[in-house]
Amino acid sequence: MPLPKVYIGLPVQEAGLEILRGKVDFKLWEKEEAPPRNELFADLKDAEGLLAGLPIKADAELFNAAPKLKVVSNYAVGYDNIDVAEATKRGICVTNTPEVLTPATADLTFALILASARRIIEANAFLRSGGWKVWAPELLVGREVAGSVIGIIGMGQIGQAVARRAGGFDMRILYFDTVRRPEIESRLGARYVQVEELLQESDFVTLHCILNDSTRGLIGEAQLRSMKKTAILINAARGPLVDQQALYRACSEKWIWGAALDVFAKEPVPLDEPLLTLPNVTTVPHIGSASRTARNGMAVRSAENLLAVLQGNKPRDLVNKEVWK
Ligand code: DGY
Repeated sequence: MPLPKVYIGLPVQEAGLEILRGKVDFKLWEKEEAPPRNELFADLKDAEGLLAGLPIKADAELFNAAPKLKVVSNYAVGYDNIDVAEATKRGICVTNTPEVLTPATADLTFALILASARRIIEANAFLRSGGWKVWAPELLVGREVAGSVIGIIGMGQIGQAVARRAGGFDMRILYFDTVRRPEIESRLGARYVQVEELLQESDFVTLHCILNDSTRGLIGEAQLRSMKKTAILINAARGPLVDQQALYRACSEKWIWGAALDVFAKEPVPLDEPLLTLPNVTTVPHIGSASRTARNGMAVRSAENLLAVLQGNKPRDLVNKEVWK
């Protein structure tokens, strides 16, 4: 029996490849930039499996080019790069990689909270450019994290991991989710509130919800204006959750104290993006899950999910459960 053909659209770590070796006939795209669509489509002609990353848009056009496709295994927990409804219509399984990247993403969220509150990036640049002449009472004064109020929008696994870290900083925790979770409230010491109250009360507002039609543009001008003038917005989820033009005005006109962003509406963020000119906006290039442990975990989990489907087994992380009869 010939092995099922698989296309791996990003340079996945060896930990994942070794799971697939000898079990599927894979072609590996080894470059960091995404494969050109025409090359990708040609390679998908006979493929039964696609191991995809965020830069690959798996839409109807791609599915048309891949008539034998049974599974799109995403190397990410988010899957807004995949048209799940279209995949479901065609009986294609979509899988993701939850859990393995939860600690790394929560750590990065906290790094952003601390870096923006204590102006770490600005301070580093100040020192290196020779600005440090004397210890002074008002030099690079920031905001205190300990004892402040954190508002978590989206209390899934990553939101909960952020809450646990916030507990270590004696923060008061508010949260909003589409589903209230009484079972975690006492464990995490978190209070459920509506978004409006969360925005008004929080010193740090951090986003951990998925991107879909109802969350796109969740934070716009009205929401930013309702936040405290001393508040910081953190986004390590998805760029389009935030209206970037409104955020620019909020940070430059000081409606809020600042923002810290791992993600952007367009990625890579264009260098002429106005937000990049502001000292009170801390930015990193979508590295939430970029720890060695998390990335190896994502490689393993995405390979296992892919293989499960091709071997006729229900994958652990099936997003569109309705395709599995
Ligand atoms: C995800 O997994 O969705 C992240 O954004 C990339 O790790």
